[in-house]
Amino acid sequence: MRFIRSALAATLTVALFLFTNSAASQTNTASTPAASPTAKPVLQIDAGKVTGNASPMLYGLMTEEINYSYEGGIYAELIRNRTFKASTQNPMFWNVAGEAAITVDTNQPLNTALNLSLKMDAGKASEASPVGIANGGYWGIPVRANTKYRASFYARGENFSGPLVLSIQSADGKTVFTSAKVSRITGEWRKYEATLKTGKVQPSKDNRFVITTSRPGVVWFQNVSLFPPTYHDRPNGTRPDIMQLLADMKPAFLRFPGGNYLEGNRMSERFNWKETIGDVSQRPGHRSPWGYWSTDGFGLLEFLEWCEDLHMEPVLGIFAGYTLDRKYIEAGPRLDPYVQEALEEIEYVTGDTKTRWGAQRAKDGHPKAFKLTCIEIGNEDWFDRSGSYEGRFAQFFDAIKAKYPRLQVVSTMGYEHPTQVVRSRVPDLVDEHYYRSQEDMQAHALDYDSYSRTNKTRIFCGEWATRVGSPTPNFAGALGDAAWMTGMERNSDIVEMSCYAPLFVNVSQTSGQGRSMQWATDLIGYDALKSYGSPAYYAQKMFSTFHGDEILATDSKNIPARQWQPSAFRGGDPPPPRQIREVFFDATRDRKNGTIYLKVVNAAGSAQKINVQIRNAPKIASEGEAITLWAEDLNDTNSIEQPDKIVPRTEQVRSLSSNFTRELPPYSITVLKIKTR
Ligand code: AHR
Repeated sequence: MRFIRSALAATLTVALFLFTNSAASQTNTASTPAASPTAKPVLQIDAGKVTGNASPMLYGLMTEEINYSYEGGIYAELIRNRTFKASTQNPMFWNVAGEAAITVDTNQPLNTALNLSLKMDAGKASEASPVGIANGGYWGIPVRANTKYRASFYARGENFSGPLVLSIQSADGKTVFTSAKVSRITGEWRKYEATLKTGKVQPSKDNRFVITTSRPGVVWFQNVSLFPPTYHDRPNGTRPDIMQLLADMKPAFLRFPGGNYLEGNRMSERFNWKETIGDVSQRPGHRSPWGYWSTDGFGLLEFLEWCEDLHMEPVLGIFAGYTLDRKYIEAGPRLDPYVQEALEEIEYVTGDTKTRWGAQRAKDGHPKAFKLTCIEIGNEDWFDRSGSYEGRFAQFFDAIKAKYPRLQVVSTMGYEHPTQVVRSRVPDLVDEHYYRSQEDMQAHALDYDSYSRTNKTRIFCGEWATRVGSPTPNFAGALGDAAWMTGMERNSDIVEMSCYAPLFVNVSQTSGQGRSMQWATDLIGYDALKSYGSPAYYAQKMFSTFHGDEILATDSKNIPARQWQPSAFRGGDPPPPRQIREVFFDATRDRKNGTIYLKVVNAAGSAQKINVQIRNAPKIASEGEAITLWAEDLNDTNSIEQPDKIVPRTEQVRSLSSNFTRELPPYSITVLKIKTR
């Protein structure tokens, strides 16, 4: 099902007949077709002609629980299956240490949310032979030098009062890096906490967390947790290295919680926000549509705090009554409770502490309301062939606009599905999704040039990626992405927001049973200890951190092209071969200081001497800067072992003028900073 969805998303490239010709298509494209292979490409910028404001919201992030994005990803929790709910049959991801016996016990629940526990029979424990339980984390427990780990768990004993010894040790148990003792365990459920601190050790990840005892008895456990230091030291927080990679991109917003994760495989597995807030021991958790259990320790408030930490605006996806098993709730009275739930969710995010849900947020630890300007009704509702989205969207739209008239409301029916767009209401934005090959991205990189400028609805490209490379994109992926980004940026007067998907992948086990990756080609990879940005990550970082706020008119001549054979759609006849461009560009200017950012992508395997002509600029400084990302081979990429193989390089450039020539390396993405004051 998911595969079918992705395949569909990747191949649907429907003609955009809904649109009239735009002003931009006449003045703002690389408009002349391919020229003779020898003619020098000419890129023309008219600095006297601003075609629109570049959207300050163009570059954001999209996230959902896929590829172990939160659990085993950005959520810093180290214990896998800490609530034992991943399977009611056996204590998945838990092992015994010594001669203990462990089972999942439904007779001793901690509460109604965590309605089972792990029972450890330590009858054979002795001073000489301690027994216990062990957890190997998400493909390892990372150990770093001089680091504090906060452990906590709920326990109750029978004929047992402790002590319990907590430790982080190597997988074979031969090296104990740190340990702590918890002395008195009572017969009632209680929470216990301890701090473990490492000394001077080498960083490693093939480790486990172990709780042992040398006294016989029976102990039940629930919510066994271990946190290393987190970003901004937030309790229940995020992984600093991954957060830093994101912070470096300066993203404007975060689209969450999905994606398919919002919808769920069935109604009981949707993202039910009310079950993801409050004390983590009161969150029941649910199965992600990507095949594994989520404790929901990373819930609505954690998403919002993630936004707060990185100065991003939340773009909240609200459940719209459609699940991945293609069931839907018809518009009308049966949908009302879900509309109400959405209104309450918005109140939880934005309401002051006098409101019911604002007060709940304060109780959960965050009295200050969050800024929210944009919400999305559902996800990819074009899969709902019943046509029910029209009515469902209208019902949510009307109720939300009545209570929150300033909120921008996004429809999931983008113009890539022109026959299905919502007609009874005018959404503020439509969300379009594109998963494509490198060539397909290049072939469509100019599409937005011809979108209507008179349409009231703006574009949110809420999921897009050049799907080349696994687990993370290779340089072909980065080139396809960069070509596509020039098109979005050049048209960011109407393409208001965009975000690549998926954002994360745990690369520990990319294939086989129980793998850590469900979707190949993801922007950022990590294992338990390290993380890295793909070439596509660096391409995006260049785009999102170097741009102006006004879009300049551009034109071109002699853009090189090559022939490409698109693949056949669903076993049909292959379409005719077509010419695709090899050079892409756009120009924006910072109106405060006059710097022009010229972005040029050379997708060809040969160097290109380009002639840049800038008209109507009062003055052009001869010295500027070039930031270049390039690779020798399309398959070149970054990895855990080689995180910095492909990273941008900055150089000072001289002899810039209103008419200069620059050689673009083969397979390269360049940002030229040109000072015009
Ligand atoms: O990004 C992966 C999936 O692709 C998303 O969950 C879904 O919205 C799309 O089909």
